Amino acid sequence: MNLLERSVAIIKENQSSHGSYVASPNFSQYSYSWFRDGAFIADAMNLVGERESAMSFLEWGIRTIAAQRTSIEKLLLMDLKDITHRDLLPTRYLLNGRLALDNWPNGQSDGYGTFLWALGNFPDMEFVRGQRSTIELITEYLEKIWQIRCFDVWEENADGLHTSTLLSIAAGLKASESLLERTTLWREIIDFILRNLTINGRFIKSTLNRGVDGSLCWAFYPFNLFGKEEPLVINTLTEIERVLLFEGGSKRYELDTYFGGGSWILLSAYLGQCYLGMDQREKALSIKAWIERHAKPNGELPEQVPEHLLKDNMYRPWIDKWGEIACPLLWSHAAYVTLAVGLAGLE
Ligand code: BGC
Repeated sequence: MNLLERSVAIIKENQSSHGSYVASPNFSQYSYSWFRDGAFIADAMNLVGERESAMSFLEWGIRTIAAQRTSIEKLLLMDLKDITHRDLLPTRYLLNGRLALDNWPNGQSDGYGTFLWALGNFPDMEFVRGQRSTIELITEYLEKIWQIRCFDVWEENADGLHTSTLLSIAAGLKASESLLERTTLWREIIDFILRNLTINGRFIKSTLNRGVDGSLCWAFYPFNLFGKEEPLVINTLTEIERVLLFEGGSKRYELDTYFGGGSWILLSAYLGQCYLGMDQREKALSIKAWIERHAKPNGELPEQVPEHLLKDNMYRPWIDKWGEIACPLLWSHAAYVTLAVGLAGLE
């Protein structure tokens, strides 16, 4: 069994009977289902023909959102200026779709955008069309709250507007534009990014940080909101490569201290896909090889690899607090799957 097959098997083994994907089965904090992780995972499963798995996650997501209808409708009636990230839908749920009642930094809006984007990619149109009222509900929700400052895709910095969060929402609203056959606000969000979240011809991480973040590459892959020829994409990737890429492994951002700031499998894989899309196949292959070198002997991929640590004195404290780095991380496997399939497709 190669790492691609093993990855698909690991994802399937860790999909709950409810359809949700656990973020990681072995890590103290990750025994929940995140809309962000799950949407990316479902999309990868769809890509390798595991349509049943993808659909069962999408159904879980639809049920989970529908169960929040009353709070969403209440929020839709609120004055925008009174809304804070504390009013937003949670980022993660129990595997059965119920709310996890704890103090996780939950106010993160990207996952619902990514979910709509994954739904838009799902080929069973009859299934997707049947979800119209929930799609409309979550679309209205995102159109209402996209400008609310919230935690970013790494669950930090609640006081900012984050480029990759907005890209995820724009990708979702672009998808719902075709699903609902009406215009949505995605172009307005892109305009906002262009006006407020670029500098020197490249994207910046957020309104709080002018550096880059590995997740900015989503503008091109997988969301395809910006083309490979666009200077913004080229310049952002050049900067990511300059400051975040260490021998095939990508950091999240320059001052990352989580587990010392290691190299992330999933970000490396998405960067590899960008290279592939830009006809830089050698670079994509070297990232794939880096990921494969860091698979455990049983084929499991971790969330991050503790090498070239940005802040090595922060590695131990995180282990003492939460235990060893999450492994397997389903999202890492999903991102690897997309890269492996992308590369194989061109062979
Ligand atoms: C990451 C999130 C991710 C979560 C579950 C966190 O450490 O920052 O992006 O959704 O883990 O995998």
